[in-house]
Amino acid sequence: MQIFLDTAILDEIKSGAATGLVDGCTTNPSLAAKAGREYNEVLKEICSIIKGPVSAETVSTDAEGMVKEGIAFSKIAKNIVVKVPMTAEGMKACQRLTKKGIKVNVTLVFSANQALLAAKSGAFMVSPFVGRLDDINEVGMNVVREIKQVYDNYKFTTQILVASVRNTNHVLDAAKIGADIATLPYSVFEQIFKHPLTDAGIKKFLEDWEKVPKKK
Ligand code: E4P
Repeated sequence: MQIFLDTAILDEIKSGAATGLVDGCTTNPSLAAKAGREYNEVLKEICSIIKGPVSAETVSTDAEGMVKEGIAFSKIAKNIVVKVPMTAEGMKACQRLTKKGIKVNVTLVFSANQALLAAKSGAFMVSPFVGRLDDINEVGMNVVREIKQVYDNYKFTTQILVASVRNTNHVLDAAKIGADIATLPYSVFEQIFKHPLTDAGIKKFLEDWEKVPKKK
């Protein structure tokens, strides 16, 4: 499974990229606001650090506007993927951008039916939001499982990008289901390296190493 970082904060992206384990990046208007810098500039810098797909989100509500924004984003770097929302206008924009050879990530997906429409519109990626579904007492991962089944049934090549990840269980569940990608907040990315027994094991080995006779 590919691991993306869900952030527009450059320090997090640089640290993540330095591990050699980050395959791409997703951003959205809320993450751009947190980063506190002009969006296009930030996207350009992210694309110079991350060689894999970098998602840039449109804010228009009509297809025409989304296509315009998408074309402009695609000029920033080759690895830009344009995010459009899961609406009828978004699907029109997805089809038009895809025809122009611009990759599209359909965002704000909360059901497998929506994911079916995204795939039929030629989306490169689809983003089911698991955390936000969990927040309203649904099981977000069930939607991911259903999308996987639908896509397998019809051999859709649209990649399933698990978004709105809140914890390490979401990451493991995404991998068990066979999602193509999980996009992680930096804090969750840090956590998946860790296990208390790894820390305890390192501590013990280092203590015991001190007891090993050394050459004088
Ligand atoms: C990423 O593409 C999504 O926009 C993001 O994961 C949404 O996460 P949130 O539900 O924590 O805002």
